[in-house]
Amino acid sequence: MCGIIGITGHAAAVDGVVAGLRRLEYRGYDSAGVVTTDPEGLRVVKRAGKLDNLAGALDGQPLSASTALGHTRWATHGEPSDRNAHPHLDPSGRVAIVHNGIIENYQTLKAELGDVRFASDTDSEVVAHLIAEQLTASSTAATAADGTPDLLAAVRAVVARLEGAYALCVVAADDPETLVVAKHEAPLIVAQAEGVGYCASDVAALIEHTNEVAALLDGQFARITPQGIEVVDVDGVPATPHAYTVDWDLAAAEKQGYDHFMLKEIHEQPQAVADTLLDRLNAPAPGLPPRLQLDELRIDEGEFSRIDKVFILACGTSLHAGMVGKLAIEHWAGIPVDVEVASEFRYRDPIVDPHTLVIAISQSGETIDTIAGAAHARNQRAPVIALTNVVGSTLAREADGGLYTHAGPEVAVASTKAFTTQIVGCLLLGLYFGQARGRVYSSEVADILERFDRVPDALREVLELDGQLRELAQRYHDVDYTMFIGRHAGLPIAMEGALKLKEISYLHAEAFPAGEMKHGPIALIEPGSLVVALAPAGHVFGKMVSNIQEVRARGASVLAIGTAGSTAALTEHADDVLTLPEPPHELAGPILSVVPLQLFSYHVATLRGEDVDQPRNLAKTVTVE
Ligand code: F6R
Repeated sequence: MCGIIGITGHAAAVDGVVAGLRRLEYRGYDSAGVVTTDPEGLRVVKRAGKLDNLAGALDGQPLSASTALGHTRWATHGEPSDRNAHPHLDPSGRVAIVHNGIIENYQTLKAELGDVRFASDTDSEVVAHLIAEQLTASSTAATAADGTPDLLAAVRAVVARLEGAYALCVVAADDPETLVVAKHEAPLIVAQAEGVGYCASDVAALIEHTNEVAALLDGQFARITPQGIEVVDVDGVPATPHAYTVDWDLAAAEKQGYDHFMLKEIHEQPQAVADTLLDRLNAPAPGLPPRLQLDELRIDEGEFSRIDKVFILACGTSLHAGMVGKLAIEHWAGIPVDVEVASEFRYRDPIVDPHTLVIAISQSGETIDTIAGAAHARNQRAPVIALTNVVGSTLAREADGGLYTHAGPEVAVASTKAFTTQIVGCLLLGLYFGQARGRVYSSEVADILERFDRVPDALREVLELDGQLRELAQRYHDVDYTMFIGRHAGLPIAMEGALKLKEISYLHAEAFPAGEMKHGPIALIEPGSLVVALAPAGHVFGKMVSNIQEVRARGASVLAIGTAGSTAALTEHADDVLTLPEPPHELAGPILSVVPLQLFSYHVATLRGEDVDQPRNLAKTVTVE
């Protein structure tokens, strides 16, 4: 949440910052602002609303400088407005800061400053005041060896007083070519390329400049100048950030002719799934049968024999992928699995010990709830595996082992390709545990993987239903209430379908296990309601047909998502039936059946004129609790 970019040493730093903010806008779009430094002082332009408002203001009031710092905001404290937009200055205009996170003790800190006027209602502004105070107090540690004020030392001194989560970037008028950054529980990367220094919330903002970046670790600070980057810890001792190479390029982060990132990302799913499945089956030695190998896992196969319980922790869409993971692990490995809303996990008393395996699923790898849940489990000596899409992310770094999805950058706030690749990751993990525990023979593993390899082509077939889905969206885009129902592998997809519809179209939508409806939710059904039923061929199909009849009898329109083997039977019970190819394996079915629901939501939202890529009140990468 909130995006930060800083550039120093570039003739067109402001343009670079605005371009970077465009790529970070999915992290928050309540307001945006930029500050430049030069020896005459700091100059700030900021505007409430989308980045275009800031860009318009900059057209009328051009800023030119070689050092600039920008921010795009997802509001926590203080309404979205010009005055609450970042950057924030201290009263003398000497220091400017941008902040991602929440300063939990800001009221105490404000009180400690005494009778000072604040220009905003944010938790962040106080940090600018405190740093300016440090720089002004001549006897503090905030002084370099030559006696001049030292911005890095001042920031370190102030950060020691902060409670909460923060990625902070600071500039000062008397040190105009320097950016100082601090990181604690919110992501921040730094980079240096061709005499220009950069910092940003994520690589999307920097990819047009470099793919060699370093992620700061919690408690690290950096001084960034055109000449180089100095990273230190809280005591000022030189420290090493996590350096890595980004394996995608600028084109992957652009719309490439699609109207929206969401649509582009939906269409990228065949490739993303293929990339996540690639090269997983290998013979451990010549002459031996091939085995499923998950090299990034970093946890010895033998360790899995000691595991007697699995927790899957995740939020939102990733949680729904985890629900498919539960089915896969219980099916192939025979280990009980609990799927947990990550934000709840550490606030109860989960029974976790070294025999418990925790799988934390997060596209971004930066979701604070998931990171905190995983840390809670690690404190109790449970091994943690991170299933993430972002190499070098906090979750990936902090976990004992990991598995990467290879979806490439996901820009739309509504997650699509990350979800289907997370399901692939979960299936691979389930199969791997089954293999490690001797419950699935090598020949079966090879057969199942060969079937998974057919999923990308099946996905291409599903994408051809787009025209039909647009027509269905025409018919249903004004319904008052939509209920999604499913059983077994259809349930997580029902939940994901409801989430997609509500988050981008703002229509009221809910999901229930189909068998649970009669215990209450069916009371909501009345003429005019729409029920979307996941009804593939398989062992729960007969039960789904009964549940469809129940809602139809009460006046709902039914849109049934069936498969080649089920649709003939569905046509007499549903108003509309969509036929998907039969999945090559039952547990791969969700990868296919979610796609029509993604497209349906997309078309409903565009017909309703909503901002598909930047839905209201939301932001991608949720770094606050
Ligand atoms: C919905 C969506 C969110 C995320 C959730 C977790 O479309 O994208 O529900 O799935 O915020 O995000 P990650 O996976 O980054 O932890």
